[in-house]
Amino acid sequence: MLVHPSGPTARSDDGRSFLVADAEGSAFVAGSLIVVRADGRRQLALVEERSETTPVRLRGRLVGEVTADGIDTRASHAFDDGRVEAVDEAMVHNLHETTGAMLAVGTRLTSPGGPARLLPTRFNRHTFWCGQSGSGKTYALGVVLEQLIAHTALPIVIFDPNSDFVRLGEVRPDADGPTAEALRERDIRVLRPNADAGSRLRAKFLTMPLASKAAVLHLDPIADREEFNELLHLRTVFEAGELEDILSALLDSEVPAQRRLAMRVQNLGLPDWEVWAGQDRSVTDVVAERPDVTVLDLGGFSTPDQQLVVALSLLDDLWARRDERRPVLLVIDEAHNLACPQLDSPIAVAVRERLIQIAAEGRKYGLWLLLSTQRPSKVHPGIISQCDNLALMKMTSPTDLDELGTYFGYAPTALLEHSPWFRQGEALFAGGFVPAPVLAKVGSRLTYEGGSDVDVPLIGHSNT
Ligand SMILES: Nc1ncnc2c1ncn2[C@@H]1O[C@H](COP(=O)(O)OP(=O)(O)OP(=O)(O)O)[C@@H](O)[C@H]1O
Ligand SMILES: [Mg+2]
Repeated sequence: MLVHPSGPTARSDDGRSFLVADAEGSAFVAGSLIVVRADGRRQLALVEERSETTPVRLRGRLVGEVTADGIDTRASHAFDDGRVEAVDEAMVHNLHETTGAMLAVGTRLTSPGGPARLLPTRFNRHTFWCGQSGSGKTYALGVVLEQLIAHTALPIVIFDPNSDFVRLGEVRPDADGPTAEALRERDIRVLRPNADAGSRLRAKFLTMPLASKAAVLHLDPIADREEFNELLHLRTVFEAGELEDILSALLDSEVPAQRRLAMRVQNLGLPDWEVWAGQDRSVTDVVAERPDVTVLDLGGFSTPDQQLVVALSLLDDLWARRDERRPVLLVIDEAHNLACPQLDSPIAVAVRERLIQIAAEGRKYGLWLLLSTQRPSKVHPGIISQCDNLALMKMTSPTDLDELGTYFGYAPTALLEHSPWFRQGEALFAGGFVPAPVLAKVGSRLTYEGGSDVDVPLIGHSNT
């Protein structure tokens, strides 16, 4: 094998990308950081692809110029005959310092190793988190959220269908250091369907906008024109009380359409739903107080529509108050429950439409989404296409990876192709929230997980 005495050389014609035409003998792989020395400058660069042809070629992007003050990611320059050098951990530290990447989420899998860090400031964009079941999405999301909670003042609302985050406020006793200390100080509220008064997860029908009330009642303005019209005119009645208060008045009404409306409420079983606030505070009241974190334990309702009602009432309220421009990060685990293109019940459609609107227009109002799911096709394209950050965990389906490639052009294809080989807990982070795309193994949780996997009982072992 021919090894260059002075190491491989690189070329950049456009000052953005680079090519090493003959990298024989070098150990750099997709995901490695390197420095290229040319024309009296040093530039940090990311290898995005290593071809296994002869000779071996490396391609990648320039990350920024190495200056006395750090890494200037706004500057990169074309060059002809650059010398490729390895990078040490101090250089990565430098990159993190100068870009403000301070959230330690794990360890880099490629040279030069060291910590992988995210930029907290770039959670002011929407984030898509993807990986097959068991890839470790929820666990890793917990690691990132712990960092965000501890090191920012950004209020976070977690839509948690599997009770995975209900113990986010419980820091493990053996966890120490600044992140653990900060987490212990945070105001983390958990709202659950069957909790004691004060922490019940509830929604108010009367404060929902007309269109959302109609969705809850499965009312179509054309097909159900008489009842819908009655709802329009009964606005003041419907604003005056909860469903059960209004129901008896409607049942006794002289107006046939009002009685039909009452039957509809009864037939849908709405009076039996435990989600209605009654005398309790609603989810919108709690979130409006802006706790550091509000965990919405959505899984414990007696019917699936009730979690949609909670989501709809909260999203409606945040949207209605958007001009206040108070930032909030809306974390939606199992996002297909709320954002799948195939959902077709009126409440689900209303939730999805609201999410599409927030994805398209919410950013400038401080309404930022983080959606986690198993496959890209499970989230509506109108939402996914608005995501500027990507966290990808193990995903073996080639079609899913191809689809991701079409949405996330900023994620290098060769790095996306690592995904089928990931072990649990390994991820690709790409987009605005990292200084350069990075393959990483996420760190350990400092707080307890809620519902972890159930073990297969083995003979001779007691599971009690
Ligand atoms: N980095 C990790 N370190 C230790 N345990 C982990 C790690 N990642 C995941 N696990 C464990 O593996 C199991 C599955 O992980 P997790 O629930 O995060 O997967 P998931 O991708 O969210 O799956 P699903 O799509 O089914 O929700 C959990 O019991 C979790 O505790
Ligand atoms: Mg999960």
